[in-house]
Amino acid sequence: MKTLLGILGSPRKLGNSEIAVKAISRALQEPHELKLLRISDFDIRPCRGCYTCLFKEGRCVIDDDLPRIREALFDADALVVAAPTYFLGPNATLKHLLDRGLSLLAYIETLWGKPAVGVGIAGIVGKEGYTRLGIQSFLRALMCDVKGCEILYGALPGEIFLNEANEEILSGLAAALFQGPPATKNAACPVCGGDTFRFLENGHVRCMLCSNTGAFQMDENGVTFDIQPATHEMFLSKASAIRHREWLKGMKARFLEEKDRLKKICIDYLKDGTWIKPSRLEKAETPRCS
Ligand SMILES: Cc1cc2nc3c(=O)[nH]c(=O)nc-3n(C[C@H](O)[C@H](O)[C@H](O)COP(=O)(O)O)c2cc1C
Repeated sequence: MKTLLGILGSPRKLGNSEIAVKAISRALQEPHELKLLRISDFDIRPCRGCYTCLFKEGRCVIDDDLPRIREALFDADALVVAAPTYFLGPNATLKHLLDRGLSLLAYIETLWGKPAVGVGIAGIVGKEGYTRLGIQSFLRALMCDVKGCEILYGALPGEIFLNEANEEILSGLAAALFQGPPATKNAACPVCGGDTFRFLENGHVRCMLCSNTGAFQMDENGVTFDIQPATHEMFLSKASAIRHREWLKGMKARFLEEKDRLKKICIDYLKDGTWIKPSRLEKAETPRCS
């Protein structure tokens, strides 16, 4: 039997994110076991940016609950991620976990291509900000095959189902989970399906999901984009993920080459400013540039 892993960004028990994930599970035709993981239950500390995991087969120097989440990701056949909008983006638990995701690059072969869908919840219609983009980015960085991501509105716990249309939207996501590639929507990036763009100076746009740029055209039928993949892709294919990992590893040699010059730049700033610290760290040494 397949395992569907529901990852919940919301700390709110039986809130909209949780019931949305459970509704997708109920609507899913394939026999499966639903496993649930609330990110805020786990002790996940901030990434230290040391890059050690890249050279130690994914082993992070921080001793916390990350391995437990990694195991759950390994065991899953498919993923559903649901997160509430907090201040115009997905709540921070998603990013907090994702920042530790560099260590997952050691497991591209195991993780690549698990089908996944996302749900963002917002309390006020139109006030979801970048929640959809944030959830899509999260799923892509987990190397998932993203089959869909929708925003539902509802502020109070359970409120999403005061609107019956939301049940259909969630059933649609359930149906998409084990189907072929999603149809490219109008006004979406033809490379990755993202729908959030930055306008550039030369009449071009940059897709905020895959970072590729290109021209766009607007006419009575809507917007169309002429965007091509660039040379340094990160998660468009398994090969590009592997190349990105090897590029990151290559930075070590570059760092060793440039170490002295870089140190000279940083050391000049060593004594600027007065650090405000929590009382337990007041006597600790000021962080230094290595
Ligand atoms: C700290 C905080 C910030 C919020 N910011 C937004 C926001 O920017 N836009 C919005 O539409 N809703 C916002 N909301 C409302 C939640 O998205 C909404 O209540 C949602 O139903 C929560 O989902 P949950 O039940 O899964 O926790 C915010 C809620 C909280 C607690």
